[in-house]
Amino acid sequence: MTEQLAAVVQKARTEVAIDALRAEGVYDDERGVFECGPETVAIPVTRPPVATDVREVVVDETRTAPETLPDLLGEWGWSEAELDRAPTSWAVVGSVVLVRVTDVPRPTEVGEALLALVGGVDTVLAHSGIAGPHREPEVEVLAGEGDTETVHREHGTEYALDLSEVMFSPGNQAERTRMGERVQTGERVLDTFAGIGYFTLPMARAGATVTAVERNPAAFAYLVENVVRNGVADSVETYRADCREIVDGFAAGTTFDRVVMGHYDAHGYLADTLAVLAPGGTVHVHATTPGKLLPERPTRRVRRAVDGTDRTVDSMAVRRVKTYSEGVFHVVVDATFE
Ligand SMILES: C[S@@+](CC[C@H](N)C(=O)[O-])C[C@H]1O[C@@H](n2cnc3c(N)ncnc32)[C@H](O)[C@@H]1O
Repeated sequence: MTEQLAAVVQKARTEVAIDALRAEGVYDDERGVFECGPETVAIPVTRPPVATDVREVVVDETRTAPETLPDLLGEWGWSEAELDRAPTSWAVVGSVVLVRVTDVPRPTEVGEALLALVGGVDTVLAHSGIAGPHREPEVEVLAGEGDTETVHREHGTEYALDLSEVMFSPGNQAERTRMGERVQTGERVLDTFAGIGYFTLPMARAGATVTAVERNPAAFAYLVENVVRNGVADSVETYRADCREIVDGFAAGTTFDRVVMGHYDAHGYLADTLAVLAPGGTVHVHATTPGKLLPERPTRRVRRAVDGTDRTVDSMAVRRVKTYSEGVFHVVVDATFE
């Protein structure tokens, strides 16, 4: 927002000065006159006057900046119909705002407005989805410097990442925190779809020893960087590989107390993974499920995957992580095995 100016004059000269400023063509009649000292007032002007005698020109700070996106877009001339289609939510990841602008009019203006409204950010990205087996984001710079590499801080954990290369789900925050809270010091954890360390980092910071597997080279590079950045290099072992190959290749007798499977197709990998779960161990199996199929579908998928193995399920609980799409939820099944 550009600065709003006001010309300071003696109170007794208010009317005369307004007339003179109006005659000069700089009086701003959309804002009010305000007191700025015991004997002076400030008269709003559109630019510093040259013909009218004033004491000084100051910035008018009585006018608060618009606080909401609709307020600001309204000031920029958006019609009511356009405002109805403006985004109502966005996410801040480090120094970047992520916003969906599908069906939104004037997306560049939305970007500029978010840049002006959201503190501490320098780039606004339009986010249209996550695609492919490596869960790569589809983004486009809407406003700002266009620097997509950033460091996101969450409960003391630092996630360095490039939002044009790897995904980050702000909606998974509670689940990332929960994973850090669930582990005991010294627990052995396997994270089969580690990404940049979404779950590995909070768990390692909480005292777990983590084996983290990620096959996407870009995500893996950030995983390694983040392990060092968070001071957990001594307790995290990283593999750039397909998790199935890593599980198959573990030395006989290798087991983990907990396995985190943060991928929507995790149930397809579950049977193989159970081979390395210690007796009494827990697996966190992520999935997407229509709300009307909860909790049966995700628990049934876990039971089916376990059929034919020598393991039995001891207990299962389903948690909603976030809304995935209309009527569909990202869920996680916490399953413990005998
Ligand atoms: C959905 S992302 C991780 C999501 C993360 N758990 C979160 O909460 O935001 C899944 C990751 O698993 C990786 N991935 C997919 N299949 C894999 C496999 N077979 N082995 C290892 N990594 C895999 C992808 O590259 C991606 O980085």
